Amino acid sequence: MFDEVGDLPTPPERIDPGGTPLPPALPVPVLGSPPEEARDEPAAAHDFVPGLEVLAPSGAMNRALANLDALTVLNDVSAQERPATDAEQDTLARWSGWGAVPQMFEPHRHQWAGAQQSLREVLTEAQYREAAATTLNAHYTDPGVARDVWSFLHAAGFTGGRVLEPGSGAGTFIGQAPESASMVGVELDSATARISALLYPSAQVRNEGFEVTRVPENSFVATVGNVPFGKYALHDPAHNPHSHSIHNHFILKSLALTAPGGYVAVLSSRYTLDAGNPRARQEMAAAADLVGAVRLPTGAFSRVAGTEVVTDLIVLRKRGQDETPQAPTTCSSTRRTCTKTAAGCRGWRSWRAPRARSKPRTWR
Ligand SMILES: C[S@@+](CC[C@H](N)C(=O)[O-])C[C@H]1O[C@@H](n2cnc3c(N)ncnc32)[C@H](O)[C@@H]1O
Repeated sequence: MFDEVGDLPTPPERIDPGGTPLPPALPVPVLGSPPEEARDEPAAAHDFVPGLEVLAPSGAMNRALANLDALTVLNDVSAQERPATDAEQDTLARWSGWGAVPQMFEPHRHQWAGAQQSLREVLTEAQYREAAATTLNAHYTDPGVARDVWSFLHAAGFTGGRVLEPGSGAGTFIGQAPESASMVGVELDSATARISALLYPSAQVRNEGFEVTRVPENSFVATVGNVPFGKYALHDPAHNPHSHSIHNHFILKSLALTAPGGYVAVLSSRYTLDAGNPRARQEMAAAADLVGAVRLPTGAFSRVAGTEVVTDLIVLRKRGQDETPQAPTTCSSTRRTCTKTAAGCRGWRSWRAPRARSKPRTWR
């Protein structure tokens, strides 16, 4: 997807590798990453190595059953306080969350009664309520898309360091990360966070809402991911004083936590770019330059996430205090992809022939 990037308008400078330790997330659990004093012990667990295929089965009921299997493994491994075996990791890797199978929480679905009952048996009441809430935005990324985002970062000069994934789900971006990346995921849902920690024990997975994540600004060399979408705002006076929707809040907070020169490369709702109200985009533009955006074709997430939602990959580069902003970005291309450089619209190619747009897309 990024073969045509060529020379980046804002080549990465020396990026602060984020060397200062992150504060612990306590009292919420931090999963994975053993404490410093235990690091010289031989690692008891190793990271799952995913390919590019979607491991969640197709079909709603098959997905639900694969999720139930994953939760059963999660409960066993947690009860025994041990890492997952290879075979258990294979089962955990088929976890796809509940976004594609909201039927599991709908009492009128009589044909789902058996699976619903099984779910009640593997989750506590509190975990069940948490799981039901995830149907809003637990839609994971196709591993091929995550791989392409990493390819972009590599082409942009990423050589390693601490990388944030806000709303990390089962860890798709963590699984595709290069070894030089030290991954920190933040995931609200406890079952999902624990599954990703068992899949990727080398990563730090913080089981908390990103709205309560407190780490110093500029802690990360980059941010990657697929942020949760929704028409609702979370309370985060420090990083969301204007009550932006969750997807824009996540992007703005990621910009604050990413060091100058670093990239925030995330999939977001199309409404980050299309919303009539420019306020969130203006705040992003105050902190970063838009390097490029690609609208993924409708259906890009139907197999992996069971959703037809339209998403954009947005790549921003955090600006240093002394840097002048790039010129405002306006792309009047009729293609559904655009990018703005000092030289004008480069038009990254979409995966499929895009539909014409009636209006130019305006960045700010
Ligand atoms: C669109 S999914 C993407 C997951 C993963 N990043 C991926 O690309 O496969 C968004 C994730 O954000 C999580 N999430 C939702 N609200 C959150 C919050 N307030 N804080 C942290 N994570 C949240 C959801 O549980 C879900 O796993």
